[in-house]
Amino acid sequence: MNITIVGTGYVGLVSGACIADLGNHVVCLDIDQSKIDLLNAGGVPIYETGLREVIERNVDTGRLVFTSDTQQAIEHADLIFIAVGTPADEDGSADLQYVLSAARSIGRWMKHFTVIVEKSTVPVGTCDKIAEAVRAELAVRFPNADQAPGFTIASNPEFLKEGAAVEDFSRPDRIVVGISKDENGQRALAMLRQLYAPFNRNHERTRVMDVRSAEFTKYAANAMLATRISFMNELANLADHVGVDIELVRQGIGSDPRIGYSFLYAGTGYGGSCFPKDVRALIRTAEEHGRELKILGAVENVNRDQKRVLVDRIFAHFGSDLRGRTIAVWGLAFKPNTDDMRDAPSRVVVAALLRAGARVVAHDPVAAEEARRVLALDLHDVPAALQQFDIVGKPMDALRGADALVIVTEWKAYRSPNWGALKREMQQAIIFDGRNLYDPHLMQSEGIAYHGIGRAAAEGSP
Ligand code: UDX
Repeated sequence: MNITIVGTGYVGLVSGACIADLGNHVVCLDIDQSKIDLLNAGGVPIYETGLREVIERNVDTGRLVFTSDTQQAIEHADLIFIAVGTPADEDGSADLQYVLSAARSIGRWMKHFTVIVEKSTVPVGTCDKIAEAVRAELAVRFPNADQAPGFTIASNPEFLKEGAAVEDFSRPDRIVVGISKDENGQRALAMLRQLYAPFNRNHERTRVMDVRSAEFTKYAANAMLATRISFMNELANLADHVGVDIELVRQGIGSDPRIGYSFLYAGTGYGGSCFPKDVRALIRTAEEHGRELKILGAVENVNRDQKRVLVDRIFAHFGSDLRGRTIAVWGLAFKPNTDDMRDAPSRVVVAALLRAGARVVAHDPVAAEEARRVLALDLHDVPAALQQFDIVGKPMDALRGADALVIVTEWKAYRSPNWGALKREMQQAIIFDGRNLYDPHLMQSEGIAYHGIGRAAAEGSP
């Protein structure tokens, strides 16, 4: 099949490369010429496990092409995926300008029947707006509507996790397809079924529904996962006051198949490009309809406060004036296996420590460069504090002379450090662990003061 993907961001690039890998001819279109130049020169603008290999082997076979030539890319395709960004507006609602501009380009250049597949996460009703935008452009080109090429819009949200996106694309647990009931809709469904057939060999994973329900499904999935995390974080904070170990509770409830083990880890709060944005957008959608999503409002508030929990613990221990203190930070990316710093809890933690006068020495296996960039923006009003921020190349180097170690991201490299070396490097062996990586009993036997999230009972300090 001939396929065009509009937008070579995270979702677009992963989808484009993986769809080419299924044997299709894929054109990835982006208006950002520098991104296209980089891709054509063999570069990959994001860090994502396995992505470089998939891109390389499909570029080599000529199945995957990158271009900024909109006309050529649109004319090429039977199926066009819209995978451009939907950043949050000031008020939290999704900004649809890029989606609608992509829709207008499609209307301007399409020559034959085209299926437009919306992959970006968009509020309910967006596919209708896309259809209107395409229709308006076609009306300019074809005053007689009967002569205009036909099209239909399908909603096919992505459920890719950063760091595992190639794997998630290649082994989906469900493929949600929202489609209209008319003839064009059924034609589109047949094409999408053909495209995704390799994933449905042993087991039918496609969930066919109407377009609006598909648009909503994506938000519902992310909102549910975010709710689980905030729920566990709130319980973890209580656990510390009532002599309960949240890790034992997680195991105790996770074994109930109705609950399950995933997404029950208490920590420093969720971040990334999806949960925070999607929770806010869903709240906003409700407001636009005169409704209030009370649970999601609480999910969002709990998460905002949770990003401060480590900082509050550090202040409780050292006082809120950290001048003269050196704090080591392990992990800056919002989660492991990515360099993404969007809404990362580390931004709140590092900024608060620097503002309190501490020197902060951090390590992250891949996000160092991006962290430097975003923290410079976050701290633009206190350039002197920024001078106190260093990022080093090895985890142990961050510990030299440190008064405390703060763990914000659970990279594998931090799972079993050499405890002897850690104690030798640090001024005082104190760990504030925002991801509950270590066994509190082991910490006790190593003589390391340890503060996890919701683990006070196991730490021996009820
Ligand atoms: C998420 C969804 O999982 C994915 O389906 C959707 O397409 C995009 O949004 P992603 O943003 O890549 O993917 O991150 P995810 O792995 O889901 O983690 C989100 C955040 O939750 C991270 O900050 C992570 O640290 C945090 N988290 C996750 C917890 O704090 N506790 C948990 O138990 C799980």
